Amino acid sequence: MKKHIVLLPGDGIGKEVIHSAKDVLHAIAEEYNHSFNFETHEIGGAAIDQYGTPLPETTVDACKQADAVLLGAVGGPKWDNNPSHLRPERGLLGIRKALDLYANLRPIKGFKNLLHASPLKEEVVAGSDLLIVRELTGGLYFGTPSERRDNGNFVVDTLAYSRQEIERIVDKGFQAAQGRHGRLTSVDKANVLESSKLWREVVEEKKAQYPDVFVEHVLVDAAAMKLITNPTQFDVIVTENLFGDILSDEASVLTGSLGMLPSASLNENGVGLYEPVHGSAPDIAGKGVANPVAMILSTALMLRYSFQLENEAKVIEDAVQSVLDAGFHTGDLQVADGRLVGTAEMTNLIVNYIRSQNASKCIASCYF
Ligand SMILES: NC(=O)c1ccc[n+]([C@@H]2O[C@H](COP(=O)([O-])OP(=O)(O)OC[C@H]3O[C@@H](n4cnc5c(N)ncnc54)[C@H](O)[C@@H]3O)[C@@H](O)[C@H]2O)c1
Repeated sequence: MKKHIVLLPGDGIGKEVIHSAKDVLHAIAEEYNHSFNFETHEIGGAAIDQYGTPLPETTVDACKQADAVLLGAVGGPKWDNNPSHLRPERGLLGIRKALDLYANLRPIKGFKNLLHASPLKEEVVAGSDLLIVRELTGGLYFGTPSERRDNGNFVVDTLAYSRQEIERIVDKGFQAAQGRHGRLTSVDKANVLESSKLWREVVEEKKAQYPDVFVEHVLVDAAAMKLITNPTQFDVIVTENLFGDILSDEASVLTGSLGMLPSASLNENGVGLYEPVHGSAPDIAGKGVANPVAMILSTALMLRYSFQLENEAKVIEDAVQSVLDAGFHTGDLQVADGRLVGTAEMTNLIVNYIRSQNASKCIASCYF
């Protein structure tokens, strides 16, 4: 398979972990006979410094031509006091909008030997493995421009959704459940909000098209509670933009570190932008200690959702699991009796595992 991938390293540790993604994809390409061609562009603070804007036209054009986009992270203290149109995060919102990336998928899985790293009890987190499907281009963050009236003492934000916007994300939720354990939890606030009432109607209508999926409706306040008291009850959660933003950050505590969480943002044509959930981590940037796993798992999502290379995606996920099971960990993960490694060494371990797996010469000593 031949694919053209745009890399947007961004800022801080984004520039470091994007190398890990590239190394892993080189190994996959060589071992499984694919050809991945890479093109790098600026976004965020780096783009502000070089082009005077967080999202240059050249970056947008390149992303539109690509088969998929991998993004590191944007932001940093250097640009914190910039006016809002010159903030690095504008680049991120802009590229999501430009590519119409309406579906954000965040898998969240508790790795066996990292359970103790979660602030929740190990017995609560054990076995949790869920996917949050969040609507990304509608709702409160994209309503008619917010207003301040009465000398700034009265504010209006607008939450708007069309039936079509709800239908397409609900379909994504059902399809994701079909590919997993067949359980879909639709999260809304239908006891109060009109937008949620329409959301619930759409889910009920769509049910007939997916008879193999079990559906339940949960109010967002109850969902927030259940996520940290009984996370294993969830398979796929589908929800609107604001609720998804909050719930997915809440669910991230299940894994013990932001450095473990990948994400995929997709449009109608299957073109996707793949990025770690974490930010640019200015406190550790340039030290070679960032955990590359979230970025590497994002490449697995790219192979799965944009290129339909399920086997290769699984190879990457198995490689990560095996390296962690062997006790290797970066500084953000406290692992008793493990071995502390940096970004490059963690990446090499994962790459070596991928190579040795395919060559069927997987004896422990050859890669650890
Ligand atoms: N998608 C994005 O690009 C994105 C997301 C969130 C924040 N940001 C931006 O990033 C900057 C820093 O934000 P923040 O500090 O709130 O969040 P952050 O995710 O960058 O860091 C939070 C904490 O987690 C640690 N951490 C994060 N990723 C790690 C990794 N891979 N390995 C090891 N440790 C890791 C950091 O060292 C820090 O202590 C800000 O400018 C913010 O706007 C960008």
